[in-house]
Amino acid sequence: MSDNSINNLKQAITKLRTQFDNEDLDLDAKKTAYLGKKGSFNELSKEIKNVSNENKREAGKLLNELKQYLQKNLVDNSQQKTEWTDLTLPGIKQKKGHIHPISQAIEEISDIFQKIGFTRVRYPEVDWDFYAFEALNMPSDHPARDEWETFFVKTPQNKKMGKMVLTPHTSNGQVREMERLKSKPPIRMINVARCYRRQQDVTHTQMFHQFEGLVVDKGITIQHLKGTLDYFAEKFYGPGTKSRIRPFHFQFTEPSFEVDFSCHICKGTGLITDEHGDKNKCSFCKSGWHEVGGAGMVHPNVLKAGGIDPQEYTGFAFGWGVERTYTLKEGLNIDDIRYFYSGESRFLKQF
Ligand code: DAH
Repeated sequence: MSDNSINNLKQAITKLRTQFDNEDLDLDAKKTAYLGKKGSFNELSKEIKNVSNENKREAGKLLNELKQYLQKNLVDNSQQKTEWTDLTLPGIKQKKGHIHPISQAIEEISDIFQKIGFTRVRYPEVDWDFYAFEALNMPSDHPARDEWETFFVKTPQNKKMGKMVLTPHTSNGQVREMERLKSKPPIRMINVARCYRRQQDVTHTQMFHQFEGLVVDKGITIQHLKGTLDYFAEKFYGPGTKSRIRPFHFQFTEPSFEVDFSCHICKGTGLITDEHGDKNKCSFCKSGWHEVGGAGMVHPNVLKAGGIDPQEYTGFAFGWGVERTYTLKEGLNIDDIRYFYSGESRFLKQF
């Protein structure tokens, strides 16, 4: 055989493939025609005996590839015929994340106050002792400070400002806001921020959120405070929700109050009527009310610390925890508040 033998074989293979690709036979007939005992492939394979010894190896490889090609296409075609797509099936849903429940609550709270002219602000989470305590009528050795379980930061001390702290409440924003507005009321601020305290248990996380309201102007009275609380109660907890203020003590307000909202489950009555008409104690609240936080009329010393004359101006302030305010609204009996910050998606995706 001449050296052309391998080229002849290659040409024959190409011819067969072209023919195969263009052949319009049904599958079984095509199988027999190409891969059957007497089919084209076996016929062509016989040509290998004409190939010179040195090219036999390559010839074998080429024939092998041809056989695989034929087999693959015959099988693939058969699959195409039996496989079908049901276009009426619903699509596969992509998993979607959502805003964290506490961020949702912050947005809602801010919106409610912004609608009545409050400006949303944020102040440093690592702040001077001065803004967190001193300016709020709590000198450095005042025992009231103990309530705040504060984290102090190891930094050189500033003569006027003192040490640095992780803010244990959003009240640090009060004097900062007075300074931002160059001690010129009117002031209507809502400060929402992270806070930190050395406490961790089922109802406390070391990091949590508060929102702080501050209003300073001429002629501001407790009535304005009460009106604002009632407005928030209705908007956030729903129509009919009432607020209640009880005397309390804070260093930075005088008078000071604790603020309660009426329970929206038992409508402030403390009782729930069951399906037999019997009245039972509401299991969600204590006697119809929920305590949410503190409030009061801004202490003259705080106004002075912010450069405002207490003879000319008065103000009110309030400060509550976002987590608590929110879980009350949703009627969530969460047995461990730390779930919010666990990054546990099975918990978070419920909101
Ligand atoms: N800062 C207080 C706390 O963390 C809450 C508070 C009470 C804020 C009375 C106020 C207020 O603005 O007037 O417990």
